[in-house]
Amino acid sequence: MNILKVENLCKKFGKKEVLKNVSFEINEGDILAFIGPNGAGKTTSIKCILGLQKITKGEVIINNYSLKKNFVKAISKVGALVEAPDVYTYLTGYENLLLQASYYKNISEDSIMDIIKLVGLENRIYDKVSKYSLGMRQRLGIAIALINNPNLLILDEPTNGLDPEGIKDLRELLLKLSKEHIGILISSHNLSELESFCNKVCIISHGEVLAVKSIKDIKKIDENKYILKTDNTSKIKKYLTNIDKIIDNNYVEIIKDEEAMGEFIKRVVLNDIKVYEIKKEDLSLEEAFIKIAGGKKID
Ligand SMILES: Nc1ncnc2c1ncn2[C@@H]1O[C@H](COP(=O)(O)OP(=O)(O)OP(=O)(O)O)[C@@H](O)[C@H]1O
Ligand SMILES: [Mg+2]
Repeated sequence: MNILKVENLCKKFGKKEVLKNVSFEINEGDILAFIGPNGAGKTTSIKCILGLQKITKGEVIINNYSLKKNFVKAISKVGALVEAPDVYTYLTGYENLLLQASYYKNISEDSIMDIIKLVGLENRIYDKVSKYSLGMRQRLGIAIALINNPNLLILDEPTNGLDPEGIKDLRELLLKLSKEHIGILISSHNLSELESFCNKVCIISHGEVLAVKSIKDIKKIDENKYILKTDNTSKIKKYLTNIDKIIDNNYVEIIKDEEAMGEFIKRVVLNDIKVYEIKKEDLSLEEAFIKIAGGKKID
């Protein structure tokens, strides 16, 4: 089932066009990595989706309701954490959650307790937020985003300030949530982290979407990258070109199309070099990102 449709979203600040026809979709079970360089338009897109910024042109449809025409219905099942969580630091974490819960109908104390445990704040929830570390505030922000039992969860750089344990907890939490009929949009600059739990990616740069793909497909963008295992890479050195790379004593990365690769293998084997293994290597999300968005400078 479709949860979010962003269609040709445009946003101008004065004369400056910050979003240019941004389009992507999130379905039930999706965890979409929303990535792009600083100033690309991620937070602005997110704010438009949440109705925190006025949309200049285009449509946002959430759970089949148009944000423009039916704001209350569209936004009712959305939970979000954008930039720093919006909390009262002189209240305790628990009081902040109660306050948030009071904005909605029928949120039981039991379900608040469940969320507190889910984000791992049970030992500190009765402390004032002013006493929290950055990561604890972030966890509280995630708890607030979950309070209305959303089916669309939007997290703008939620791993900022989280310790490795916190990041692991968040990853497990998001994977668990994605199995419960919810769709998730998450922006972060930590691409290796996102790669481990997102199934889709949307790359944005200078307000334009450069790619929307499954993580699996985007990693396959380089069809010509092989990893070869040999007995000693120093012997193979003279057969490499300057785009190839020696990884260590046994492994070398070779960039060639299939035909040229066949010739290359024949040549090295005939020259008495042992080839133990050849495999096609997927790109990391970071490599794919640099390939697609690399070289573009911030305005
Ligand atoms: N209120 C505003 N008024 C004018 N320009 C703005 C405003 N908010 C954002 N911008 C501009 O819009 C562009 C996109 O900013 P945005 O915050 O969406 O980027 P981002 O992708 O979230 O970047 P980052 O990775 O640094 O968080 C930037 O050029 C920014 O300067
Ligand atoms: Mg941002």
